[in-house]
Formats: sequence, C-alpha cells, structure tokens
Amino acid sequence: MSDLLWQKPGVTVDAQIQRFLAGDDVVLDREFFLHDIVASTAHAQGLQRVGILSADELAGLERELAALADDFHAGAFVLDERFEDGHSAIEARLTERLGDAGRKIHTGRSRNDQVLVATRLWLKEKLARVAALSREVAKVALDRAGAERGLPIPGYTHVQRAVVSSAGMWWAGWAEAFIDDAVRANDTLALVDCNPLGTAAGYGVNLALDREHTTAALGFSRMQVSPVYAQLSRGKFELAALEALGSATLDLRRIAWDLSLFTSAEFGFVALPAQYTTGSSIMPNKRNPDVIELMRATHASVAAARTEIEQLLSLPSGYHRDLQASKGAIFHGFGRGLAALELLPALLANLEWREDRLRAAIDAGMYATDVAVEAAIAGVPFREAYRAAAAASESAGQGRTPEASLAARTSPGAAADLRLDALRARWDAL
Ligand code: ARG
Repeated sequence: MSDLLWQKPGVTVDAQIQRFLAGDDVVLDREFFLHDIVASTAHAQGLQRVGILSADELAGLERELAALADDFHAGAFVLDERFEDGHSAIEARLTERLGDAGRKIHTGRSRNDQVLVATRLWLKEKLARVAALSREVAKVALDRAGAERGLPIPGYTHVQRAVVSSAGMWWAGWAEAFIDDAVRANDTLALVDCNPLGTAAGYGVNLALDREHTTAALGFSRMQVSPVYAQLSRGKFELAALEALGSATLDLRRIAWDLSLFTSAEFGFVALPAQYTTGSSIMPNKRNPDVIELMRATHASVAAARTEIEQLLSLPSGYHRDLQASKGAIFHGFGRGLAALELLPALLANLEWREDRLRAAIDAGMYATDVAVEAAIAGVPFREAYRAAAAASESAGQGRTPEASLAARTSPGAAADLRLDALRARWDAL
C-alpha cells in the first residue's frame, strides 16, 4: 500500500488491522472516483484563487487530474488495494507526477468533506436518472391509457372480482404513480444539490476558501452552510435518496405483482414477449416470467440499503468512521434499483392484453354496484338498493355490458373520468 496519509513516525500499522480498516472501501471508491477528481479540480482552482497555489501549479494539477480521469476510464489506472482509499490515491498520483503541487492539494480540505462532495455529485446523477425513468414509465402508461381506455378488464379488491375496470384505468393508475415518483426524485435531488466542500473535517478551516467558486464550478445550486450540519447530514441525505428511489421501486414491485398474476395461465390476461421469460432446467413446458420476478425483488435491496443506513445513524455529531458503511448501501441500492427501472418502460410498452380472456373474466355479479347506485339515483335509499342488488345476485347484472358500465363511470365528466389531460399537464411539468 502507498504511504498512509496519516501515518505517524515510529508507529507500525498492523496489517490485519489495516485490512479490517480498509475493508472493501477502496474498491467501492471506484464508483465515484471520477466525481472525486472533478471535485478535486474545483478545490485546486479555489486554492489558486486564495493564493495557496500558483497559476502554474494549478495548471499542472488540472492537467494531471484530467489525465488521471482518462487513465481510470481507459483502465490504465486501477484503483485498488495499493491505496487506502480513492482520496489518498488522487493525492498520491498528483504527488508522484507533480511533487509539491500534489502535496498542496489537500490544503483546507479533509477526506470528510471530500467523500461528502463526491457522494452528493454521484447521487444527483442517480436521482436525475430515477426521475427520468419514472417519467418514461409514466409516458408509456399515459399513452396506453389513452389508447386502451375502452378495453374492459376485471377490477379486483382482495384479489376477488369487484367491478368492471378498463386497461385505461389500470394504466392511468400507474401513470399517476410514476409521475409522483418523478416528482419525489426531483424534490430529493433539490435537497441533495448543495455543496459541502470547504467544510473540511466538520469545523471549517482557518483559510478563506472560495466556497462560492467550488459551488458554481461543480454545478451545485447552493452551498451547504454549517460545517457541523455537513457531517450531520451524511447518511441522512443518502437515506432520503434511497427513499425517493424506493418510492419508484415500491410501485415497480406492485406492477410486477400484477403482471405476475396476469401472465399466469389461471388469469391469462397478458402475454409477455419471449425475451422477458426464461425456461426451466427440468420442465420442458415452462416459460417463466423471471424478469418481472426480479423486478419485484428489487425493492428488497433498496429497503435493505435504507435500513442499513438508518441503523448506522445512531451516532453523536461529528464524523465517525461508521459513516463509511453508507457507501456500499447506496451503491448496491441504486445499482439494483436503476437496473430494474431501466427495463421497465420497454417491458410495459411491449406487453399485450388478451382481450378474450379479459372479457371472459367479467361476470354479471360485477355490475351489482352499478345496479345499486342507479336505484339510489332513482330515489331508493342506498342501503335498501344495496340489499336488493345483493339479493338479486347475478341476475341483477344480466344484459349489461362492460362498455356501458365503464361509460357511466369513466367518460368525460363522470366521477372516475380518466382526466388524462390533467395527468399529461403534470407530466409535462416534470
Ligand atoms: N472512506 C472514508 C469514508 O467514507 C473517507 C473519510 C475518512 N475520514 C477519516 N477521518 N478517517 O468515510
């Protein structure tokens, strides 16, 4: 391993203890190494502005930081156990290439604000992706809601047939859900979008750092003001980000559940394109919807990451090494969550309804609520009308059509009017 930044003369660092301290940290740091490099560049620019670096030193640092990013991209520089962490690796490389300019880069910063700034930059990108994917899902759902508003499907409560619904109603439900998820991701992005760089170890530093410069250079919309809060917010903003992701993966879990039921032979409502299915190693007849099952499982990873961070946050104020464990959680949670959400728009765009099966699943009993409400409109007290419809059982619904039932509830101006224009306006504003 390269020299530890904090090593004291005459004190040997036990290898086993060092391995425990390091864990998989340096490997995890690969995930936001480029963000750390970008933030290091902004920090170096700030140091030149307050006279710590000369113009030449800054030019050298900018050049070497860009070269490091290129080498990392190309695989010519590997971030591995030779270094304690990504932060040390940057300083080691700059020192090796530039000498004193490299030894100056850490003036006025701590790895504590360095890891915070890299995490916030990384999460901003991931939350923007959650918002964009939720928006894409909502678009597919909105388009299909408009096109399929007249296709009747059974509406369930308790997984028991309840009333006539439509593919349009089903899609509009998911459209509104994923619009909310996009709003939530954007709102959380705005919360995460602040610059902790310059707060050092959590108590500021006796150097007039140009925090306005680093805030603007890194594209943050504001500065995180209190150095103490910069540390207190670690874990908390990661938790908020995972909650925003979880809002989308929870909806994903529920839509996957619907599709898991609907693609079964017993329901037979939906045909999945073959590429979303797998086979069995023993049962030659099987076509299994593994993709939707793994989508359904995704929320477990997101929720586990959330829980891990929440458990870590039982800490007094200030930095603690415990906080390092939040990185693996967010990388894992966002890795799984985004991988699943990436597949969802195309899957939804490609699934096909089987109209014969949908119509066959609508029975006359599903008009009972319509019958009771019609009698109530004619002046019969609702409870009496309800009892009469229940007593008449299936015969009350004889001769009715799904189309008429849907028209009475979902046509323009009716109580369950799909109001796709209102949803589209919210979607446009995302
Ligand atoms: N890997 C560390 C983390 O993620 C970086 C900060 C180390 N700071 C310290 N004081 N040991 O928290």
